[in-house]
Order: sequence, then C-alpha cells, then structure tokens
Amino acid sequence: MPLNILFAARPERWAIYEAPLRAALAKAGIDAHLAQDIAPADVDYIVYAPNSTLQDFTPYTRAKAVLNLWAGVENITGNQTLTIPLARMVDPGLTKGMVEWVTGHVMRYHLGLDIDILNRSTDWVQRTPPLAHERGVVIFGLGALGQAVAQTLVGLGFDVSGWSRSEKDVAGVRCLHGEDGLSQALSRAEIAVLLMPDTPATNNVINADTLAQMPRGAFIINPGRGPLIDDDALLGALDDGQIAHATLDVFRVEPLPSDHPYWADPKVTVTPHIAAETRADTASEVIVENIRRGETGAPFLHLVDRALGY
Ligand code: NDP
Ligand code: OXD
Repeated sequence: MPLNILFAARPERWAIYEAPLRAALAKAGIDAHLAQDIAPADVDYIVYAPNSTLQDFTPYTRAKAVLNLWAGVENITGNQTLTIPLARMVDPGLTKGMVEWVTGHVMRYHLGLDIDILNRSTDWVQRTPPLAHERGVVIFGLGALGQAVAQTLVGLGFDVSGWSRSEKDVAGVRCLHGEDGLSQALSRAEIAVLLMPDTPATNNVINADTLAQMPRGAFIINPGRGPLIDDDALLGALDDGQIAHATLDVFRVEPLPSDHPYWADPKVTVTPHIAAETRADTASEVIVENIRRGETGAPFLHLVDRALGY
C-alpha cells in the first residue's frame, strides 16, 4: 500500500514542490500517493505550511507527523488540535540563503558602504574601515541558522558572540546564554543579528532597556521575527542615535502597513520577509528523510518542543 502524503500549503506552492518531492520520494524508494486532496482519515503524513487552509487536525486520525515547510512555527505551536509530532524546517538551502543575506547586511554596516554609495560630494575624504576583528557582532539565537551565520562571520574574522537559551559550544564563537549572559552579549553588540523564534519568552527581547545596553551607534539586523523587537523602543533609540540603523525583514504585521513609521525612517531598511526561503530541492530531501524515519521507527529530525514554542 502506498503512503498517503498530503501537501497542505497554498496552491501555488504545489507547482514548486510537486516534482522535487516526487523525486526525493523515488530516490528514497518510498511508494507514495502525494496529493493536495486526500480523505483526512487516510493521510499518513502532512507536508504543511502554516498559511494553509488546514487548521483543524482532528480528522487526521492516522497521520504520524506534520512536516513543516517553514522554519518558524509560532503560528502552529498553539494549535490544540495538533497532537502528533511536529517537525520544523531545517533546510540547507534556506540556511545558505540566510547566511548570504545576513553577511551582506553585516558587511554593509561594517564597511559603512552607505557613506560611499550615497556620497555625491567631490571632497576627497579617505575613510579606512576597521578590520573585522575590531568589530563585535552578536548573534541572538544560536540555532540552525544562528550557528551557520556565526561560523561564516568567524571565517571572515569578526569578533563573534552568540546568545542562546541553553549553553552552547560553537568553534570560534563566544557563547553566552540565559539571563546572565544577556548583558554581556548586549555590551558587545556593535552589530546585533536577531535569529530567535517568536515565543512568549523572546517577545520584546529588544526593548528600551536592552537597546540602552548596546554600544552607542550599534546596528540591528532582524531576520528572526517581528515580535522580538519593541518597535516604539527601537524607533526612539534610532531617533536619539543610540542605534545608528536597523535592517528589518520581519514585522509584527506582514505585509508591513504602508503607514508604519519604519517605511519613512531613513535609519531603517525594510525588506519584505525575503531573508531566506525554503528551497524546494533541498527541503524535499529533508521532508522525505523524516518520512523514512517515521516508517522505520527512527526518531524524527527537528521536532518542535511545544512547551518552549520552537
Ligand atoms: P532554531 O530553533 O534552530 O534556533 C533558535 C535559537 O534561538 C536557539 O539557539 C535557541 O536557544 C534560541 N532561543 C530560543 N528562545 C530563546 C530565549 N528565550 N532566550 C535566548 N535564546 C533563545 O531556529 P533557526 O535557527 O532554524 O531559526 C531561527 C528563526 O529564524 C526562526 O524561528 C524564524 O523565526 C526565523 N526565520 C526567518 C526567515 C526569514 O526569511 N526572515 C527564514 C527562516 C527562519 P537554544 O539553542 O538554547 O534552544
Ligand atoms: C520561515 C520563514 O520560517 O520563511 O521559514 O520565515
């Protein structure tokens, strides 16, 4: 009997994922019926995007796991009808995208590229940027994405620290954690990169108090989630120069409303949640590996801890 695998995402995603998923299933030797519409009681696995119309998992009585296409799971962890294992997306393609996006923005700030790009004066002012080892970069969130970003920045020579909930050991990275490590992390954050999930514990972690603990003129890069930042506090800190500039990819409300002050603030770069996308080829391999594990009794990869919310 083939496995019934339901693809529950926005319809336009089917055209992107169908062929890579079928190829990965064939490569793994899994006989599967993959479709967007399968009777709920017959479904074995659900490949899922949180913006799908599927929100009530109660009728999926046979399903063994929900395999999320997104890294972020804040829109599903509270779903009381979801009682089977939930795996989030850790995709090598997505990770590469995030590393490239963050590195680009770190280099923009580190080298002061805006000064030259926006300069139209003919004054011959020679301004030598510092070397990377003179620049403190702190990655708030040392998970799958944070560690990959940290390692790339270490490779470029930056003075990299990371902050996480639990203790970590990442080569070349000053690893700090918990409440005790936060002040130390903030004090080193000439450039702060936010790569934490949106959970009750991370809400407003960047607020008036924590912004004040960063070096004056710090930069903030947020590809994590909007609720990590108290927006009013950030706007205030940008206004008074405590924070020199922020690049924000994610927001409490998306799309960012056209009258939001971030759009008009010259000290803010807004990008429309494009830092990193799940890539169908590599993500399909990850999804199928989890199906293989489910069928052989091996533990699922990248399981979400519902109590922690990520
Ligand atoms: P992980 O779950 O692998 O890592 C999350 C990190 O955040 C971990 O280091 C974790 O600590 C840390 N963390 C969680 N809660 C706290 C806390 N209360 N205090 C301190 N640290 C905390 O996630 P990923 O790295 O895969 O992804 C991170 C986020 O990036 C996603 O949740 C998503 O919101 C965002 N994202 C954004 C994209 C975009 O295009 N803008 C694309 C993909 C993801 P510990 O290690 O101790 O558990
Ligand atoms: C994700 C995202 O969570 O795109 O995958 O933000």
